[in-house]
Amino acid sequence: MDDIPSAMYDKSDERQCLIYRGINPSVMRLIINTGKGGVGKTSVSVATAKRCADMGYRTIVMSTDSAHSIADSMDLELNGEITNVMPNLDALEIDIITEMNRRWDDIRRYISDLMMSQGIGGMTAEEMAIFPGMEMIAALMYIIDFDKNDRYDVVVMDTAPTAETLRLLSFPDISNWYADKMFGLLKKLMSIARMTIGKFMDMPLPTKGVMQTIELIKDQMNEAKRILEDPKKTTVRLVVNPEKMVINETKRAYSYLCLYNKNVECLIVNRVYPKGIQGEYFENKYREQEKYMELIHQVFDPMKMMFSEQMPSELVGWDMLDKLADNIYGDTDPTTVFSDRSPMSFELIDDIYKITMDLPFTDKSQVELFRTKDDSIIVHVGSQKRNVALPDSMRHSTMIGAELKDEKLILTFKKEEFL
Ligand SMILES: Nc1ncnc2c1ncn2[C@@H]1O[C@H](COP(=O)(O)OP(=O)(O)OP(=O)(O)O)[C@@H](O)[C@H]1O
Ligand SMILES: [Mg+2]
Repeated sequence: MDDIPSAMYDKSDERQCLIYRGINPSVMRLIINTGKGGVGKTSVSVATAKRCADMGYRTIVMSTDSAHSIADSMDLELNGEITNVMPNLDALEIDIITEMNRRWDDIRRYISDLMMSQGIGGMTAEEMAIFPGMEMIAALMYIIDFDKNDRYDVVVMDTAPTAETLRLLSFPDISNWYADKMFGLLKKLMSIARMTIGKFMDMPLPTKGVMQTIELIKDQMNEAKRILEDPKKTTVRLVVNPEKMVINETKRAYSYLCLYNKNVECLIVNRVYPKGIQGEYFENKYREQEKYMELIHQVFDPMKMMFSEQMPSELVGWDMLDKLADNIYGDTDPTTVFSDRSPMSFELIDDIYKITMDLPFTDKSQVELFRTKDDSIIVHVGSQKRNVALPDSMRHSTMIGAELKDEKLILTFKKEEFL
């Protein structure tokens, strides 16, 4: 997909940039930068966002990392609200307590009442905020809102190190499963209570508002999944350094991201020592990196790669971030979709249904498959798992094949014949 035209960096004609972009300008572009701790995700995210804003795109850089540092990188202060930091550029560090109070106070109050009824004591927003996944749901809700209301052309997301990002990206699947179970349970509770003329143990019943909020979360997670799995809209970029451990973690992250059907379209190799660098320490570093650069190519070719050099000082403030953006992108538009292929595809030919999933760097021994009662397939790869729902037409089908070949997992199903 390298032939998609990329815009030149031309501030004088902002509309032109949008037209050259090679994708419909009304499509919001979500760029998620992820990678191992300390590789440069925050610096790359803020530099990317600034470059997009300079090019005329309405841009926001947001952070889902609870140890926020986009404000530090820009050398500014942020307060959990969307803040305009320069023309065309907003920034947001998600503050989960603010989000709890704003979005889910009815659920918190219900859980708190439920706990009080059982003599456990209430729950504050601060206590509820420690539930895993709250930041992720909030981040996903912002994204849905930005997409629906056409608020930004580009959303750049700075994330916590890899494991956390994987959780974010798998969240719509997992949270839907929870919401389904919780919703079913509460509905049952309400109907029993109705039958017993409103009196059912000493438990408070969920209010209409609580039920509506849960239903809304469910709908929104489906919407989030649609956005995150649209390869023209959402791009995951892996930030990597030429170091052995970083490369290994990046390989794992890549296969898990494929498992979650996310379009990993680009590798940003950061902190590369430049050729001809003077001094014994740096010359040694350069030589050491050379072999890891080779390894990066062996492992990730033909994926699009961009490179940025090891800078002589810390990347804080706009000037340094501009230098980093120059280094990474040169004249290339950071919003270019370098590849728009989904790692997962579905095919129905007559009564045979085939699911093909890219699973790079994965060995047979790492893959386990389970079929659930509600007819979805759970694919375990290493420490990660994905719930793949079968379409309604393939419910009650028989799995007739599962093979891992050429880094692809191919599952085939046959419709059951009812005589
Ligand atoms: N190309 C570079 N040249 C010099 N310093 C760099 C470069 N890239 C990043 N840094 C510095 O490395 C440190 C870590 O960078 P950054 O905070 O962007 O990484 P991160 O991946 O977001 O880290 P974390 O996982 O902790 O969130 C910062 O001090 C940053 O200024
Ligand atoms: Mg960071």
